[in-house]
Amino acid sequence: MANDLYQRKQSLFDRWAGFYDLTLTSVFYQAVHRRLLDSIQLPAQPYVLDLGCGTGKLLNRLADHQKDLTGLGIDLSPDMIAQAQGANQVPERIQYHVGNAVALSLEDQHFDAVFNTITFLHYPEPEQVLAEVRRVLKPGGRYYLADFAPRWANGPEVLAQGMSPIRFYSPAVREQMAMQAGLAVVDHTWLLGPVLLTAFQATES
Ligand SMILES: C[S@@+](CC[C@H](N)C(=O)[O-])C[C@H]1O[C@@H](n2cnc3c(N)ncnc32)[C@H](O)[C@@H]1O
Repeated sequence: MANDLYQRKQSLFDRWAGFYDLTLTSVFYQAVHRRLLDSIQLPAQPYVLDLGCGTGKLLNRLADHQKDLTGLGIDLSPDMIAQAQGANQVPERIQYHVGNAVALSLEDQHFDAVFNTITFLHYPEPEQVLAEVRRVLKPGGRYYLADFAPRWANGPEVLAQGMSPIRFYSPAVREQMAMQAGLAVVDHTWLLGPVLLTAFQATES
C-alpha cells in the first residue's frame, strides 16, 4: 500500500517538475524559503540535508546565504532531481540524489541541519521519516520543518484520501511525534499564512 502511494507521489512530482518553478505555488514556497532564512541558526561550515528538495531552490539560497555551507538534496522524483542538478549554482558545494525520506542511504549522525519544506505533508509514514531525520542528525543538530498547519487542523488531518493524500499536523501533534523520535522542539514560528516552521533539536542519545 505504502509503495503504491510513493509511486503515485513520484509520478505526480515527475509530471510537475518541468514547470514547477513557474507556478504560483512555487512563488509562494520561495517566499517561505526567504522567511525561513531569518529563523535558522547554523554552525560554521555546516553540512545540511534538504529532504524533499524539489528543484533545489532552497539549497541554492542557503549556499548563497552562507558561503561555507555544503549540502545534499534528496527527492523521491528523478525529474525534480534533474531540474535541481540543472539549476545547481554551486556544484562544488551542493549535490543532489534521488531517494525516499522513509529510508535514507546515509550515514548516522552526518548532518548539522535537516531542512524539510512543504514536503512532510506528503509522507504516508511520517514516524519513520522522523526516525530517519533523528538518525542522520548530529547530536544537537537542528531539524527545520516548514509545512502547512491550518488552524482548523487539531490533529493529523488527512485530505484527498483516495488519490494522493496529504496530512496537516498541529503544533501539539508535531511536538508529540518528534518527542517520540528523540527530537526536542526549540520553537514554532508562523512564516507565511498557514505555513508553520517548527525547529527541533536532536537530543543527546
Ligand atoms: C511541494 S514539493 C516541495 C519542494 C521543495 N522542498 C520546496 O520547498 O519547494 C514536495 C517535494 O517532496 C518530494 N517528496 C514527496 N514525498 C517524498 C518522499 N517520501 N521522499 C523524498 N521526497 C519526497 C516530492 O517529490 C516533491 O519534490
